[in-house]
Amino acid sequence: MPRSGVYLGVSAHIMHQWQRTLYETGFAVTRIPLDFDELYIEGALGRIDVIQGISPIQTLVPRPGCGVGPSYSDNFGLGAFPFHTDMAHWSVPPRYFALICASGSSNVTTNFIHRDHILRPQEQVECARAIFRARRPLDGRQIPLRMLSSDIFRWDALFLEPANRAAARIASLISDRLSTAKQSKVALEEPGQTLIVDNWRTLHGRSAVPQASDKRVLKRIYLKSVS
Ligand SMILES: [Fe+2]
Repeated sequence: MPRSGVYLGVSAHIMHQWQRTLYETGFAVTRIPLDFDELYIEGALGRIDVIQGISPIQTLVPRPGCGVGPSYSDNFGLGAFPFHTDMAHWSVPPRYFALICASGSSNVTTNFIHRDHILRPQEQVECARAIFRARRPLDGRQIPLRMLSSDIFRWDALFLEPANRAAARIASLISDRLSTAKQSKVALEEPGQTLIVDNWRTLHGRSAVPQASDKRVLKRIYLKSVS
């Protein structure tokens, strides 16, 4: 079995091309029928990570923001979303997520940067010493969050703040590098087109949404593993 199969927890001998790409680059594109349900997702993509208070299949539509709130849409509205990892304020953020195109747009892109492209190996060692905390405590608790712990990498300048000197140093280094790092961009244009993202190794953001693209609709599903 290829090493990537071990990494992804894939038990079947045949790996799909999208799984290989996911392992190699941190994201991949595939296609699923639009009449999918949770059972289909578990067979075709992977185990759904059910998060309390969040629907297993979420609908994302662009909407104007109000400058403050618990989501990127609240804060940035139709503007560009800065690079981040999802649920970075959770002790264990979801391993993967899928974005499935319900109504597409060629003018809006999801953008990616692999963590290895902004951090050298020595800096990743320092990341393991960098502690962050949520700007707003989760359920009233303030949990220390290691930026890099085993394989979990987290980055969210909006909802997390540095809690020690290593974190402050590495945060400013990452902010600088993100502004110049090479990005990969994917536009979900056709219904059924599906992006799978490795949320522990890849930072993602979204381009601004022009008025003509405000009918863009995506479905998001968090995954514990890919099948
Ligand atoms: Fe996100």
